[in-house]
Amino acid sequence: MALHIGSTAPDFEQDSTHGKLKFHEWLGDSWGILFSHPKDFTPVCTTELGLVAKLKPEFDKRNAKVAALSVDSVESHNGWIKDIEETQSTKLNYPIFADEDRTISNLYDMIHPEANDTLTVRSVFFIDPKRKIRAIITYPASTGRNFDELLRVIDSLQLTDNHLVATPGNWKDGEDVVIVPSLQDPEELKQRFPKGFTVVRNYLRTTPQPNR
Ligand code: BEZ
Repeated sequence: MALHIGSTAPDFEQDSTHGKLKFHEWLGDSWGILFSHPKDFTPVCTTELGLVAKLKPEFDKRNAKVAALSVDSVESHNGWIKDIEETQSTKLNYPIFADEDRTISNLYDMIHPEANDTLTVRSVFFIDPKRKIRAIITYPASTGRNFDELLRVIDSLQLTDNHLVATPGNWKDGEDVVIVPSLQDPEELKQRFPKGFTVVRNYLRTTPQPNR
């Protein structure tokens, strides 16, 4: 069955560069970012996995665990990690799943046969601590992802969960946000947004970012 926003993230057990991992158990009470790449020893993937290693402290700050995957073996991943570390000047500090039998790729629909029969596309699944899929993005093999965008999406999801606000187009951390339309009670609005808010239209109300 196709996975959507709101679906429960499928659990699985699979080999990785950090040993055999049970996905839900490994996630614990963290957020999870599960991202696939097409193939080891390829140029775009090398830059992507290096970037994620450098951004790991930012994912940690957000209580988010990251894991990569492709259909290559652990031996292949381990050989490639040396290249990533050398060429991208970083230490690979998160697991890469070795999905040789396609357990994960099939569960998460990461192989798109019209693009390629055997290789995973560049998928990203954002999973919350209740194991719900909260966002999904998919890029083709030829387009490296913007990993700052992943952090921006987590920030937005966490702001919605914690403060009942949504983030406008092109929003950046620190900029004004919008109050979710379902929130109408004047007393609750006053309590939740002590910095005040601006009514641009009755459905468009902006407020300073609450956690700043
Ligand atoms: C790359 O990572 O550079 C790549 C991988 C598969 C197909 C095309 C590009």
